[in-house]
Amino acid sequence: MQEKKSYYITTPIYYPSDNLHIGHAYTTVAADCMARFKRMQGFDVFYLTGTDEHGQKIERAAREKDMEPIVYVDGIVENIQKLWQALLISNTDFIRTTEKRQEDVVQKIFTRVYEQGDIFLSEYEGWYCSPCETFFTERQLAEGKCPDCGREVELLKEESYFFNMSKYAPRLLEHINNHPDFIQPESRRNEVVSFIKSGLDDLCVSRTTFKWGIPVPFNNQHVVYVWFDALINYLTGIGYMQDEAKFNKYWPADVHLMAKDIIRFHAIIWPCMLMALDLPLPKKVMAHGWIMLEGGKMSKSKGNVIDPSLLVQKYGVDAVRYYLIKELSFGQDGTYSEEILVNRINADLANDLGNLISRTVAMVIKYFGGVIPETRATAALDEEIQAVALQTYTEATEKLDKMDFSAYLHATARLVSRANKYIDETAPWLLAKDETQAGRLAAVMYNLVECIRIALILTAPTMPTLMERANKQLGIWDNLEEIPWEDAEIWGKTKNGTRVTKGASLFPRIDLKTLEEEEKMTVSESVPGPTPEKQAAPELVAVEDEYISIEDFARLDLRVAEVVACEKMKKADKLLILRVKVGEEERTVVSGIAQHYTPEEMVGKKVVLLANLKPTKLRGVMSEGMILAASDDQYVDVLTITKDIDSGNRVK
Ligand code: MSP
Repeated sequence: MQEKKSYYITTPIYYPSDNLHIGHAYTTVAADCMARFKRMQGFDVFYLTGTDEHGQKIERAAREKDMEPIVYVDGIVENIQKLWQALLISNTDFIRTTEKRQEDVVQKIFTRVYEQGDIFLSEYEGWYCSPCETFFTERQLAEGKCPDCGREVELLKEESYFFNMSKYAPRLLEHINNHPDFIQPESRRNEVVSFIKSGLDDLCVSRTTFKWGIPVPFNNQHVVYVWFDALINYLTGIGYMQDEAKFNKYWPADVHLMAKDIIRFHAIIWPCMLMALDLPLPKKVMAHGWIMLEGGKMSKSKGNVIDPSLLVQKYGVDAVRYYLIKELSFGQDGTYSEEILVNRINADLANDLGNLISRTVAMVIKYFGGVIPETRATAALDEEIQAVALQTYTEATEKLDKMDFSAYLHATARLVSRANKYIDETAPWLLAKDETQAGRLAAVMYNLVECIRIALILTAPTMPTLMERANKQLGIWDNLEEIPWEDAEIWGKTKNGTRVTKGASLFPRIDLKTLEEEEKMTVSESVPGPTPEKQAAPELVAVEDEYISIEDFARLDLRVAEVVACEKMKKADKLLILRVKVGEEERTVVSGIAQHYTPEEMVGKKVVLLANLKPTKLRGVMSEGMILAASDDQYVDVLTITKDIDSGNRVK
């Protein structure tokens, strides 16, 4: 049997100085999406992640908690591993730099490079802050003082080992020139090239000011510099110097993935180290942007980090992963907010994908008792939808291969939208009324199931549980193991006789009410506004409820109401408190229109009130009904009665 082609992908190994946040989750989920995609393509994938546990910062963090460093990191590493389980990260191995295998390999490499003359003993001169026990370069100082604690620093010399990095600079530049894909995206490549051209210093690769590290094997006064140690994890993890067959199978790595903050370590220091070891360089070093918060960068000191495991508990793993993968455009930074996350879930997953599946399942049940007949009548429109599906496959594959994650999910989202539009174009509920159209109706149903099948394959690397959940309703696959990626390229794989079954909603719409920001949620409730992205096929349009009866409509008690008083809600930018007269009765209504109407403008208006809406307390004020308004991204327009019709009259 032919051996599978290998694919080796890594994330940075994270510092376990504290629990990880959504930024770390981004890299790990993105790499996981790649690993799953390559497995579906038939590669033998090795996906490595882990923790970078040595160094002064960790030692200090442990000391602050009065703990031994290893005890301290053990606790955090356990949390990190739990987080990766919650996010369904499918890593092949998890490496810790405190493991014996890493210590052995680092020491052997250090000795080898020393013996060949590329590591040598010299003196390191720098500005030393003794309370922080840290050296700084002149440039790192803050107005001549320690950039961390602001205290005085002194010029000190320390005996150190140096790695002769400058020697490898010309070869590295040549390699970068000859391999345009080596550093991605291009902006990072340019940054690295100009950095190398400005001249590389030799790198200080040992420390004597602290102990928490791997000892230099032939001089135990020194510990190995934490980055020299950490980068080697990429070799240790696949058996370098320990399991040569395994190592040869996976090295060189296909991609080291990280954010732009550590590109220089990976695209300069690391390749020079590999050259010194006579090893081939990784095929690609890929840097994505940062997830920022509205107030700037996420940082533990600012106390504004987002814990991904809480998001998973709240929104489910598929939705959180989908949001992350779609959010950062190639190489760019993105901004995280929970509101954006919820909007994304509602728009893409609940309204579009979830609704496409539930409508299709409901229609196949309603029109064909759950099984699509084999006699099907195609029409010209079907060719177009097939072409869109094929094009989506090609685009998704290309974008994933480039690691342009967001563009990949934009492509799959377009297929889903197109399929929803196909329902509107073919109007199955009208076809169902005409017996001669039964074959056509069957073809429409089949095509929808095919679009869903393809979309589920293409989104499987992003949403690992969706295919199985959806298949319980769709019954497309008898066995869900090892669905090949290429199945999405073939139209017509859904077998005749496939039986669909009704099930729970795959992505229930999230009501913004559940968000912590009460103000935003009350606005969404009192103004039935748009889902900010778009208003695609809301759940109500599901087939069984295509039409509502006049009795259904009559359940809404809509009344003309005259605004007799109005004021702004205190400490809430968006809310007005209206006093309205409905016939003989007066009511209080809270409405999220304060950014579009002043209280003065509202008084005297005759508006339309949904009078039998269950009263609810908003910001401590009991709201007895809801006034109607039309809205889009820009405007909110309250519906008003322009003729002299008394309040209390029905609107129907
Ligand atoms: N230990 C080193 C890496 C050694 S690799 C041989 C390190 N660790 S870290 O814990 O600081 O992780 C940095 C990495 O975490 C980034 O390169 C990126 O992959 C991820 N991210 C951390 N914060 C992030 C954002 N706000 N946004 C996106 N990615 C972020 O550096």
